Amino acid sequence: MPLRQHGRKARFIMSVKIIGTGSALPKLQVTNADLEKLVDTSDEWIRERTGIRGRHISTGETLVSLTAQACAGALENAGRAASEVELLLVATCSPERGIPCAACQVQSVLGAQKAVAFDLNAACAGFLFALNTAYAYVEAGIYRNALVAGGEVLSKIVDWTDRGTCVLFGDGAGAVMVEKCDKGGLLGFVQHSDGRKGEVLRCDSRELKNPYVSLPMEAPYVQMDGREVFAFAVRRVPESILEVLEQTHTDIEEVDLFLLHQANRRIIEGIAKRLSVDISRFPTNLDRVGNMSSAAIPVLLDELNRQGRLRPGMKLVLSGFGAGLTYGAGVMEWQ
Ligand code: UT7
Repeated sequence: MPLRQHGRKARFIMSVKIIGTGSALPKLQVTNADLEKLVDTSDEWIRERTGIRGRHISTGETLVSLTAQACAGALENAGRAASEVELLLVATCSPERGIPCAACQVQSVLGAQKAVAFDLNAACAGFLFALNTAYAYVEAGIYRNALVAGGEVLSKIVDWTDRGTCVLFGDGAGAVMVEKCDKGGLLGFVQHSDGRKGEVLRCDSRELKNPYVSLPMEAPYVQMDGREVFAFAVRRVPESILEVLEQTHTDIEEVDLFLLHQANRRIIEGIAKRLSVDISRFPTNLDRVGNMSSAAIPVLLDELNRQGRLRPGMKLVLSGFGAGLTYGAGVMEWQ
């Protein structure tokens, strides 16, 4: 039986597959032309530097409402009832509440009363890390299935006066339902974190204010050194993809599609070039939805699934990267 790496320990593989996908986006679509009215930017700059043309922004939709809608879509697509869900994970870095966690709120909306629910924050790598977490639980036989979501309402943590960041992000949620299977499905993951580089992309949560101290927040909204993040992604993502391919004994030519975190079209092109893989094998939707952090990969996966572009037996690589810094990759055989 093949080995896979979980953290740094080698383990035996059991099979876990995705049986349904769902996604949800806020109604309001904001174009680059709309943003020209807010900050000193241009449609041309945004398109050329990022590939983004538009994004969906919440006008009342919450992280919980979007994520619950995406989860309901994944359940319907999988032909499963909310009452059957045993584990519910929500990856997010923009929850409405510190407590309770978003996953418990989503559980309540869905009526998934049997599920154990909790959140996971690894920023833009969050969905990938959550999927691997679900994989580990289901593979170990602790739970028979899991609903795994990535959701963000980044518009509430973005500084709408900072042209360097506000043009990049969008709101939305995506989800997958996973279940144990005999073979195929999720084949393996690698995950990495480098806390030393945490300052290059940060946002504080709340200020420390109590009867004894009052400290102002250093970064009340998202602050980013875009060039640093860009260089990190183009260097580390190909490494993690090659690492997971080696670990799962997968030849890069066997991979049909590479579903990367949708941050910047130029980052995706740089990664494709480093891997010597034709860009046509890297589907994107960032032109319409922008960077939705942990929601990016599951929303893209759901769109491809519903467009009928995923066929049984296809090999997919997923790869996320972002604040932390965190990054990783996974390989799956679509079923
Ligand atoms: O999800 C993971 C987290 N984020 C990322 O992955 C983002 C990674 N980084 C990037 O995508 C790119 O670095 C950005 C899109 C953020 C920026 O692109 P860049 O080519 O690295 O531009 P830059 O930051 O080097 O800025 C170039 C110029 C600057 O002007 P000067 O100093 O050359 O006069 C910026 O002030 O572009 C200016 N600029 C803008 N101009 C018009 C920055 N933002 C804008 C803007 N509109 N929105």
